[in-house]
Amino acid sequence: HAHIDHATPEKVTAAIAAGDTHVHIPSYETFSDYVAEGGYETLKTLRETGDWEKVQEDVLASGLRGLGGAGFPSGKKWGFVRANPGPRYLAVNGDEGEPGTFKDRYYLERVPHLFLEGMLIAAWAVEAETAFIYMRDEYPAVLEILAREIKALEEAGIVTPGYIDLRRGAGAYICGEESAMIESIEGKRGMPRHRPPFVAQVGVFGQPTLVHNVETLHWVTRICREGPEVLSATEKNGRKGLRSYSVSGRVAQPGVYLLPAGSTITDIIEAAGGMADGHLFKAYQPGGPSSGILPASISDVPLDFDTLQPLGSFIGSAAVVVLSDKDSARAAALNMLRFFEDESCGQCTPCRVGCEKAVKLMQADQWDTGLLEELSTAMVDASICGLGQAAPNPIRMVMKHFPEEI
Ligand code: NAI
Ligand code: SF4
Repeated sequence: HAHIDHATPEKVTAAIAAGDTHVHIPSYETFSDYVAEGGYETLKTLRETGDWEKVQEDVLASGLRGLGGAGFPSGKKWGFVRANPGPRYLAVNGDEGEPGTFKDRYYLERVPHLFLEGMLIAAWAVEAETAFIYMRDEYPAVLEILAREIKALEEAGIVTPGYIDLRRGAGAYICGEESAMIESIEGKRGMPRHRPPFVAQVGVFGQPTLVHNVETLHWVTRICREGPEVLSATEKNGRKGLRSYSVSGRVAQPGVYLLPAGSTITDIIEAAGGMADGHLFKAYQPGGPSSGILPASISDVPLDFDTLQPLGSFIGSAAVVVLSDKDSARAAALNMLRFFEDESCGQCTPCRVGCEKAVKLMQADQWDTGLLEELSTAMVDASICGLGQAAPNPIRMVMKHFPEEI
């Protein structure tokens, strides 16, 4: 993966055609491998004799929740979308932009058809006219894999040509916000819309749209094949299910770890081979920069949906970044706010001006905590979307847990 840099999908395709191995396409499960293992049988059976409400029941029984980070019960969305008259659309959010998150990429570069079959099952369940896949352009190998495998699906007659519409993002983090993604799919500048109406009612081209994250759909296939127990049977620390934690930072073996949803940071660091040599565990980002920074002393909380709320945090996309005694929580928070400043779409003042102001205040030798707190409140209360609403989390958590640094 070190070799794919800034290559565009066109460059990737041209390079492969020219026999140039500069672009590294990892070895993955192709359409024929997948079919040889019984792939697409579930979809075929459902299309012929399936009852979408039965599948919805299984998805609900599994406890599957939106794995883009919000954790909305996946099966419920199908009902919301179906409640509105068609034409309906499906839009897959593959704009995995949350810093530290790489689980969707991990699955797509290995088992893309588990996702594609799940996507077609969900499309069948809501009778979607078209399935859009909005894929992050920074994943050229994934784009190439998807282009190849969608072609294979078309050639096998599983989808009509053009049914799956693969779209490339253009590097904007905000286009991972579902309504900004939809604006972008429609060919406009990606800026979040006000809610309500929710996209389940008014989505792509004003039509009811089912939006799912890549990994969520990967699990839809597995639930249909293996039953709801594939998720619901795992229980730990009072939590049910499994989580794909993207683990990076000062651990010995960064990577994606599929662990019980009730795992604590201690379990996760252990799964990642412990701390890197010479590093002492100091703090962690539990689920992307929007989730802020927690101190090592809070180590017995299961990192799952809902469990971090009392701490002013959330698990989000389960992007765990581990910091050590060699790191500064204050510097990490400043880095996060710089990211938000850069990625703010600029549509609303509390976020556009608030992020910039926060960065300036955080660069002072001594933080003006009163002003930063006031600014944070304004941003949380008055920003249109999650970016501006969650941006103050790292500030507040550094003020609370690492006062000695500011
Ligand atoms: P949200 O909770 O507002 O919505 C989640 C989903 O449920 C959306 O699809 C929404 O349309 C649907 N929904 C909620 N209430 C509904 C209702 N009453 N009727 C119909 N549909 C309804 O959360 P949001 O803003 O979509 O996502 C925030 C999360 O995204 C954060 O937790 C963050 O961790 C995560 N995130 C993930 C990134 C990634 O790269 N994976 C990047 C940035 C943020
Ligand atoms: Fe844009 Fe930020 Fe407002 Fe969201 S909160 S709409 S990113 S300016």
